[in-house]
Amino acid sequence: MQLIHALDPLRSAIDALRADGAIALVPTMGALHDGHLTLVREAKAKAAHVVVSIFVNPLQFGANEDLDAYPRQLERDCALLEAEGVAVVWAPKVETMYPAGFATNISVSGVSEGLDGAARPGHFDGVATVVCKLFNQVLPDVALFGEKDWQQLAVIRRMARDLDLTRPHADAILGVPTVREADGLAMSSRNAYLTREQRAAAVALPTAMRAAIAEIEGGVPVGDALSALARALLAGGFLSVDYAELCDAADLSVLPARSDKPMRLLVAARIGKARLIDNMAVAP
Ligand code: PAF
Repeated sequence: MQLIHALDPLRSAIDALRADGAIALVPTMGALHDGHLTLVREAKAKAAHVVVSIFVNPLQFGANEDLDAYPRQLERDCALLEAEGVAVVWAPKVETMYPAGFATNISVSGVSEGLDGAARPGHFDGVATVVCKLFNQVLPDVALFGEKDWQQLAVIRRMARDLDLTRPHADAILGVPTVREADGLAMSSRNAYLTREQRAAAVALPTAMRAAIAEIEGGVPVGDALSALARALLAGGFLSVDYAELCDAADLSVLPARSDKPMRLLVAARIGKARLIDNMAVAP
């Protein structure tokens, strides 16, 4: 496995890999957990070579967010990825990704505006900009993202379609189902911020979401089910609920009532120092 920090050696490595078969890219910010390793295993099933990027992208963090605190553990991450048979870890420095004078921003309207886009202004511009750069740097045949970041996946797919990206083509941007802990909490690098008590309480998130979904699917008005969900989180130890919305699964428009199209329940809530997000399918 090659650990690469600069663009010229990356390009040489990519040329050599491409001569030998297809390339799958798994973009990450490091602090890898089983959710990331599941993406890597899926990537191995899709292409001869897997490239994993590890870059804590300052553009997608707001002024008061956790950029400095975000866990960085490159050596440990590389050991995990080497054991998975990854070909290249692409770990650029900030000044390599954003050299002096960098002035371009990719902003995806519509799908990036509500939910996390409203709660974290500029976040999805930062995501779209860095992911577009990663795609251009690695030119993967396929790219894999976790469905835990459902809105992020929708933003990236929209960007790839709108910009006519061919590597990867929009249809080759694949979502992989969320990997959960035994008690149902979605795996996230930010779970590391939780104390033992907060981690135990955090199970209220998937539990309350499942209860709300059962209510909605059973015919309870959406507003009532979502209010009960928020109350359950606050009673269970969460400090606040940024949003809890039933949305169209594709365009993420908020649904005040059930629809016959695929639906998704999306929630963001704060507990201790962590802001946790999760989403689940809701049957029509
Ligand atoms: O999901 C993430 O880890 C990040 O948002 C991503 C896609 C690697 C872009 O920085």
